Amino acid sequence: MRVAMIGTGYVGLVSGTCFSDFGHDVTCIDKDASKIERLKKGEIPIFEPGLDELVRRNVEAGRLQFDTDLTQAVRDADVVFIAVGTPSRRGDGHADLSYVHAAAREIAAVAQGFTVVVTKSTVPVGTGSDLEHIIRDAAPEADIAVVSNPEFLREGAAIEDFKRPDRVVIGTDDPRAREVMAALYRPLSLNAAPILFTERNTAELIKYASNAFLAMKITFINEMADLCEKVGGNVQEVARGIGLDGRIGSKFLHAGPGYGGSCFPKDTLALTRTAQEAGAPIRLIETVTTVNETRKAAMGRKVLEALDCPPRGATVAVLGLTFKPNTDDMRDSPAINIVQSLLDRGVKVRAYDPVGMHEARKVLPDSVIYADGAYECAEGADCLVIITEWDAFRALDLDRLKTILKTPTVVDLRNIYPPADLASRGFKYIGVGRGS
Ligand code: UGA
Repeated sequence: MRVAMIGTGYVGLVSGTCFSDFGHDVTCIDKDASKIERLKKGEIPIFEPGLDELVRRNVEAGRLQFDTDLTQAVRDADVVFIAVGTPSRRGDGHADLSYVHAAAREIAAVAQGFTVVVTKSTVPVGTGSDLEHIIRDAAPEADIAVVSNPEFLREGAAIEDFKRPDRVVIGTDDPRAREVMAALYRPLSLNAAPILFTERNTAELIKYASNAFLAMKITFINEMADLCEKVGGNVQEVARGIGLDGRIGSKFLHAGPGYGGSCFPKDTLALTRTAQEAGAPIRLIETVTTVNETRKAAMGRKVLEALDCPPRGATVAVLGLTFKPNTDDMRDSPAINIVQSLLDRGVKVRAYDPVGMHEARKVLPDSVIYADGAYECAEGADCLVIITEWDAFRALDLDRLKTILKTPTVVDLRNIYPPADLASRGFKYIGVGRGS
């Protein structure tokens, strides 16, 4: 099949490349000429494990092209995906749909023959119907069906998630569009991935409901962690104990510094706004968003409380800055709040991240000092804080750390070390939700 993918951000580039790897003929389009030039040369603008190899392989096989102009690709396409950004609109927290609307108008102007237009971007319920009107106004003769096909990829595991999804959700009432989408995803049937056909509004809601539910799970276990710290108890065992109940499930129950990233904060906010305006407020998720924000600030206080010296003039070594491992993404990372609250109290912050330092420099204050490695970061510090659970931090040489830290204090916001190991070596160790 011929696919045009509009937007070569995270979702567009990963999805387009994976579709081409399944044998479809894909053109990825972006208005950013320098990005397209780089992609043509095989340079990948985002960090995603395995993506560079996959792009190279499919470009060489002639199945994956890049272009700045959508005209030809859309004309030839059976399916056109809209995978442009939907940032939070300033002021009201709604998703900003201006890029999505603009893409729909451009597609309508050039599409030929029956064309399925698919929203891959995360869009509020009702957007599919809006796009249909926009397209009808722009090109009354166009034979276009608008479908919702939300994505559930996780950064850092996106290729695996695309190729072995828990499910694919396709929202459409149009039988022709359904047939085209079924053919497009047929390669996944080998992996027995369930394909769920629904109405379009329902598909749009499934995306928000999924992210909101996951954010709620994380927030729940984070609050249980706080309770464990107050009354004594181990949140990891609580998570295991409840997660073994199949109705609850064990995933997304890792307590930590609060969720971040480009999706959960934005999508939970947008869902609450939609629900409020519809007169059906989802108070549970309103609370989740507030609790998560409060938590990020609380994590800064947790580090300050761990210090055995006055904050002013103390040095804190921070390991891990990105919102999670295997990405360079700093968007809404808890590290931003934690670092800021330390700096506000006069703490010197030295930081290291295996991949994210380039992005971190753009968002963290200039006073942050960057180290070339974990041990260089720890050298002479009054406290070591692990914010992101990169694999490279899981097996640090604890004896070496003990000798190079000025004070052997470790605040492990991801619970990657067994408290007993550190205690037996003479560290003051503070995890999340592991005892009082
Ligand atoms: C999330 C969803 O997991 C994807 O299914 C969805 O497609 C994506 O949003 C999206 O809407 O595009 P992502 O933001 O890449 O994916 O990252 P996650 O792995 O979900 O992690 C999000 C945040 O939650 C991170 O800050 C992570 O550290 C935190 N988290 C996750 C926890 O604190 N505890 C957990 O148990 C799991």
